[in-house]
Parts: sequence; C-alpha cells; structure tokens
Amino acid sequence: MLDFPTELSPPAPIPRARALGPVSLLRVLADNPLEAWTTAHFEQPIVISGLSIGRVAVVSEPAAIRRVLFDNCENYQKDWLQRRVLSAGLIGGLLTAEGQNWRTQRRALAPLFARKAVMNFSTAMLDAANGLAERLAQREDEVVDVAVEATRVTLEVLERTIFSDGLGRAPEDIRLAMKGYFETIGRIDPFDMLGVPDFVPRPGRRKLRPMLRVFESAVDSIISTRRERIAADPDGAPRDILTFLLNAADPETGEALSEAEIRANILTFIAAGHETTANCISWSLFLLSQSGEWRERVQAEVDREFGGAPDGLADRIVETRAVIDEANRLYPPITAISRVALGRDELAGEPIKPGTMIVIAPYVLHRHRALWEKPDNFDPNRFLGDARETIDRFAYLPFGVGPRICIGATFALQEASIIIGTIMRHFTLELVPGFTPWPVQKVTLRPKSGLPMIVRRR
Ligand code: HEM
Repeated sequence: MLDFPTELSPPAPIPRARALGPVSLLRVLADNPLEAWTTAHFEQPIVISGLSIGRVAVVSEPAAIRRVLFDNCENYQKDWLQRRVLSAGLIGGLLTAEGQNWRTQRRALAPLFARKAVMNFSTAMLDAANGLAERLAQREDEVVDVAVEATRVTLEVLERTIFSDGLGRAPEDIRLAMKGYFETIGRIDPFDMLGVPDFVPRPGRRKLRPMLRVFESAVDSIISTRRERIAADPDGAPRDILTFLLNAADPETGEALSEAEIRANILTFIAAGHETTANCISWSLFLLSQSGEWRERVQAEVDREFGGAPDGLADRIVETRAVIDEANRLYPPITAISRVALGRDELAGEPIKPGTMIVIAPYVLHRHRALWEKPDNFDPNRFLGDARETIDRFAYLPFGVGPRICIGATFALQEASIIIGTIMRHFTLELVPGFTPWPVQKVTLRPKSGLPMIVRRR
C-alpha cells in the first residue's frame, strides 16, 4: 500500500510553466482540462487570457469571488458554454433557469433541501448504504471498481428519495436509459468548446435524444400514477421528492411548478446529484486507503457512532466529514464555476469588459499558493475545530456560494457521510497494488480509469 503520511500529496497534474498554444489547448481541454492549468493560475489572484471563445478571466481572489457570486451577482450570468454542455434535457430545471423563473423555482424547492427535510432522508440513505455493504460482502478479497459502485449507490439514493415507491413497470429499462443518457452528457463535446453553432449536428447528441425520450416518458408515467394516488388519498401518498414536487409552490406568489418543470427538475436532481456525490465518495475512499492514521480515526469514530438512530448520524461523525471536506478540496467534483459579465466591472484590480467569461475554479482555488498552507497535501485537520474557522468563506467552494449555491449540498454531505461511514464500519478498502488513480475532468472530476480496490472485511 502507498500509505502516504500527511506530508505527501495525492496524485494531480503538475501545473505547466507556460500557457499552451491555441491548438494544443483545445486538445487538452477536450481530453482533460485539469492538465491545462499553469503555475500562474495557482499563484496569481487573476489571470486573463484571450481564447477562441473570447476573453476569459480566471479569478482566485476571495474578495473578487465574493463580488462575482454574491455582492454584484446580478452582473454575472451563467454562461452559454456551461448551459449548453449541461442543458441537454435539463432546460427548464433549476440548474439552467435564469431571472424570475429561477427565483420562483428556487423558493418553491428550498424547503425540500432544508436541513430538517434532508434529515428525513437518512433512513433511505442508510438502506442504500447497507445494500452496498451487502454487495461488497459478497466480493470479499476481490477487486471491485469503487467508482462504479459509488455511482450505483448514489443513483439508488436518488431513486429511493425521489420515487420511494419504485420506478414502475420496467425499472431496468429506465435505469439503462438513465445510465446511457448520463454517460453521453458526461462528455464535453469539442464542438461546444470551439463555439460551433447549435444547428451543426453533434454526433454524441444523436444518441442522446432517444435515451432521453425513454427516460422522460417513464418519468411521465410515474408522475401520472402518483397524481392519481394523491387525488385518491392525499394523506396516504409517499413522503418523497416526487410528492413534494407535485405539491410545491412559490411561498411568495403561490405559483406551482409546471409539468415540464417537474420533469426537468427530476432530471436535474439526478444529473447534478449522482455523479458529483459519487466522485466525492470515491476520492474520499481513495484518500482513506492511503492514510493509515485517518483510516484508524474514521473507523474508531464510526464504530462508536453507528448503530444508534439514523437521524443526526451524519452530524456526529465529524472526522469522517473532515475527510470528505478535504477530498472535496483536493478533488472538487465540480472543478470550475463560470459566468459571463453583462456590464463593466473591476476584479482583483483588473478592468472587466462586458462579455468576458469569468471562471472561478474550485480546483485551482483550493490549491492556491496564497490561500492554503501545503495546498497539495492531504490533511483533514484543516476542517476540524478552530482551524475550520480560519478558512475564508470565499476560498473553499465545492458547492459554490451566493444565491446559486448548490441546493443539494446538505443532501450530498449527509449522503456521503452515511455511505462512507457504512463502508468503513465493515471493510477496509485497499487500492490495488501498483495502481494510481488519475484525476480527469469530464464535466465532473473523476478517477480516469476507475478506482480498483480490494475489499477486506474488518
Ligand atoms: C458532492 C456533491 C455535489 C457537488 C460538489 C455539487 C456542486 C454544485 C455547484 C458547485 C453548484 C453551483 C454551480 C454554479 O454556481 O454555477 C451546484 C448547483 C446545483 N446543484 Fe449541486 N453539487 C452536488 C450535489 C448535488 C445534489 C445531491 C443535488 C440534488 C439532489 C444537487 C443539485 C444542484 C442544483 C439543482 C443546482 C443549481 C442550483 C441553482 O442554480 O439554484 N447538487 N452544485
């Protein structure tokens, strides 16, 4: 086992001394954008360059980030590239909505992701985690791709929390369509990077539409069955995300979600919530496999705290949570948040012209030389006790910040804590000797060739 002490740093591309030329840059961006960052990005508060898609400013100064995502956020809109990449099928949901429509949806959906509501999902999360533990128990001393298992369990959590009474008539067909769909949207299309207009057919997109149709029509039929159930017995309907969406309304205007918005938000929660959380779980388990000290600390904690009531469990396992926070720092599942400037502004002392693309890259920010001590080292102590209070609110952004902060952050952290806790309680996962996972950005930041680990029962 590699077993690195906290002084050693887990695998990551070494920043380039100089920026790539335009052709190589496109190739690297299509292949693995993490390998394009330069030393300047990790050292300077702002780096501005002219690319084929226009002027791009990479901003890493906390005060400037606060201005873009919080104080002056009206001046910065989600940009076309991000929306184009993410919006296949998600148009109309919270992630891609803008303006008044976004405000109405956000207000209507907020109670669903509030702390108390999320706590009610603890049992569903624990059931899915125990299902995973049972699967792993059957594979004792075998090699398992933990990245695949993590994706499976996070999809299961969403399935159990959105559709608690099941996927209806053909669950396997729906799961297959969903898998194909998310695998296809998970790839950044080089045409999108080049800014090729929408009317040019994208090879990947052709495969996407039929899969999306299967999935959408399945969701439609689940929605109509549920509507009938609610109409027949309003109090007897399952208390899950679907019932919530069907009853959701903006508390200020009383406006309900349209049928299309309900469907788009189901897709959005699955798209935004499953792979991100799966990556967070995979990287945390990898890091735990490399540090004997933290493995022991986490296992002692879960031995002590698991077994009681599931409510509040995630809040009790603080050392496990510190490992998750550190994994989200070193390998943030969403590596870059982007916006486009509508009007003039000034950021970190530099004038910003309208149309400039602003990139706030958690991957860069979380390893920035001016903001972190030993930025590339694994050390969950940063997130424990008083040390946590010293972290600038705008220097650690795995879930973004400001009005468009991830609505599912509490959900994701509770889920990751319960799943990792359950695994560590029963098993020790060892990285396959000689294998080093490599971080690659394909919309989310995942281990390039999966995460093969040997399952050892404790
Ligand atoms: C570790 C897991 C997750 C990470 C790292 C993550 C990260 C993010 C980030 C960085 C944003 C902000 C993007 C921006 O400002 O441009 C975001 C937004 C969002 N996330 Fe998450 N997310 C995670 C899990 C989830 C889950 C579990 C759900 C739902 C079940 C979810 C639903 C959303 C939605 C709907 C938005 C858009 C919010 C809005 O614009 O109002 N996310 N997420």
